[in-house]
Amino acid sequence: MKRDKVLVVGSGAREHALAWAIAGAGCDVVVAPGNGGTHAAWPGVDITASAIDKIGQFSREIGANLVVVGPELPLTLGLADLLEESGIAVFGPRQQGAQLEGSKAFMKRFLARHRIPTAPFQVFESAANAIEFIRQRGAPIVVKADGLAGGKGVVVASTVDEAIEAVDAMMVRRVFGDAGRTLVIEDLLVGHEASFHVVCGDGWAVPLTAVQDHKRVFDSDLGPNTGGMGAYGPAGLVTPAVRDRVMDRIVMPTLEGLRADGVKFRGVLFVGLMIDRGEPSVLEFNVRFGDPETCVLAPLYGDSLFDLMRASARGEPAPKITRAPDQHALAVVMASHGYPASPRVGDVIHGLDEALPRNVQIFHGSTATRADGSIATAGGRVLTIAASASTLAAARLSAYHTVSAIRWDGEHHRSDIAYQALSTPSFLPV
Ligand code: AMP
Ligand code: GLY
Repeated sequence: MKRDKVLVVGSGAREHALAWAIAGAGCDVVVAPGNGGTHAAWPGVDITASAIDKIGQFSREIGANLVVVGPELPLTLGLADLLEESGIAVFGPRQQGAQLEGSKAFMKRFLARHRIPTAPFQVFESAANAIEFIRQRGAPIVVKADGLAGGKGVVVASTVDEAIEAVDAMMVRRVFGDAGRTLVIEDLLVGHEASFHVVCGDGWAVPLTAVQDHKRVFDSDLGPNTGGMGAYGPAGLVTPAVRDRVMDRIVMPTLEGLRADGVKFRGVLFVGLMIDRGEPSVLEFNVRFGDPETCVLAPLYGDSLFDLMRASARGEPAPKITRAPDQHALAVVMASHGYPASPRVGDVIHGLDEALPRNVQIFHGSTATRADGSIATAGGRVLTIAASASTLAAARLSAYHTVSAIRWDGEHHRSDIAYQALSTPSFLPV
């Protein structure tokens, strides 16, 4: 049988991890645009993920029979629509479904209409009204730009002044451009966050094990928010009972709501959850895999991840999937000098040639290959070191062992990934 040819779209550690799982399942892989790590393993092409027409054309040129879309932007621009219309199977929703991530106002109204638990909110088109509402409602309060803002469009304000400043920045000064034309203002939720991925096909939805991300840049959850500094899974705070609640109260009503609205959703629905004493609510929806979450899910699921993606993309029935039940995975992000405010590029990375234990993977994020063949930093989140083992503690040890062998000027990482799970019994899987 001819091997599947799979084009992976994107350039982060998420895409490296997806490409690794897909190649592991015996496919030919091409990554567009890819990074220093993917280019060392598979062909790449210099087409940015948001250039959807060029991605479409390239998919046809190379005869891809499956395109796996990593980031949200090309999905919100209609890459899946374009590919499906030219007969190429694509993992990821069409533009309409991608609105769940592309517009927070759309997402919140959708949740309200379908009575899915989420923070109480209001949508604003005018700064004056938003500010008046904030003064009435008081702090803490959360201000969100409606559109995509590279993960930076959320301000959790602890004072009224901070919230008003956020309205001014987003809506008046337009620091995120048109993404701030509309704002969502919502109540603060308390509890613990978890990343809940569900792979969706025609008439089926398969939840993956829950993962916990660490969004703040410094240990003990201090410092500014980032795209994610490390993750582990399974996240024990999502007990089987919580998982059932998430499926019954959030995921199934969402998929039924989409169906009722005439929207077919293929791809992954990544629910950002806040869990308060076992009660889950939706913080956000994403229509793509999380990063660094994928660096945990890919080692845990391996080939099964590809089987799920292919069945979803082709409209086939859900495959039987397997995950070694006693496996844990943990991923540590190594970031560049100045991340997240102003990442420095061009620092040469040392230590990448050391032999790796079988249970450790190095997934590249923002790296580039230099003319002399060395690999250098090319953005904020540079490498994600992922390890799997039969206990979380062993996975942690393996991951950090490899982290300590890699270095570049200004490199920093969190040294406490999974600290709560490793110190608090209620965080451990039951
Ligand atoms: P979002 O992009 O909407 O997930 O927001 C990014 C981060 O902001 C989340 O991961 C949370 O840490 C935080 N956040 C967003 N909305 C709320 C909320 N209503 N209450 C508390 N934290 C929030
Ligand atoms: N790590 C969070 C995200 O990918 O959105």
